[in-house]
Amino acid sequence: MIAPVVARTRAELAEALATTRKAGGRVALVPTMGALHEGHVALVREAGRLTGPDDAVVVSIFVNPMQFGPNEDLARYPRTFDADLEKCAAEGVDVVFAPSVDEVYPGGEPQVTVQPGPVAETLEGRSRPTHFRGVLTVVAKLFGLVRPDLAVFGQKDYQQLVLVRRMVEDLCMGVEVVGADTVREDSGLALSSRNRYLNDEQKHEALMLSEALRAAQGAASDGADHALAAARAVLRRTTLVDLDYLVLTSPDLGEPPASGQARMLVAARIGGTRLIDNTALHLGSGN
Ligand code: PAJ
Repeated sequence: MIAPVVARTRAELAEALATTRKAGGRVALVPTMGALHEGHVALVREAGRLTGPDDAVVVSIFVNPMQFGPNEDLARYPRTFDADLEKCAAEGVDVVFAPSVDEVYPGGEPQVTVQPGPVAETLEGRSRPTHFRGVLTVVAKLFGLVRPDLAVFGQKDYQQLVLVRRMVEDLCMGVEVVGADTVREDSGLALSSRNRYLNDEQKHEALMLSEALRAAQGAASDGADHALAAARAVLRRTTLVDLDYLVLTSPDLGEPPASGQARMLVAARIGGTRLIDNTALHLGSGN
């Protein structure tokens, strides 16, 4: 097991990637905020599968202040750098880029930021109005710093994935964006750094989210209305889950099709913890 090179500055990052670049190798980036779990590890493995021995896999670990709202959990966001580094070493990551806030935002918040457009105003954007501007700005910065050929994001944060794809396309960034499947506990609960805030009872109730999505998948061949009704019926079984939204959309978060590929997304608060989940659905016409 060779420990990854830890780069804290732009200069250290450039140096760590110099050999790969000189040899014409490709660079794959997995952006994270740390507190790595098996979901993140799956993204790293995907990056590894998509690259060869002359290429480099970079994991960035940066808790991005710009994507946290004033009442959100920036200060209490878990920071577990040593354990993260061990996980990266076990997966054969070449470089861990872990810059300070000053390194990424010298002079504070930038004057020029990424305006994420209408998709950012729906779903998560309703309760977190500045969130995706912060996400896309830091992802654009990370792309500028690392200059990756490809970047891997999780489908777990589906709206984020759609917006990153859109940014790359609209701003011609030339990065291949790969979306990796959501990793779940055996129970179905999607892995998230926020799950640690749930007590046993809340964790049990949180299963209703993935259960609702599974029920919708089961009913999808009967059409959109049946899929939504099946999911709602599951969510009605619990009083601890305070539903924020349950929606059916097209795969790029537009209006859902009458039949064919669609996406169902759910968000809810359990105690003080906000959880999100989503799944692909294949809608039948219901006839
Ligand atoms: P973070 O929440 O650390 O997530 C990093 C990446 O891991 C994201 O692409 C996310 O979708 C993915 N991920 C999280 N849980 C997952 C799961 N259970 N299965 C599969 N993938 C999962 O998302 C962010 O950080 C930030 O917004 C970031 C993109 C790094 C910008 O700051």
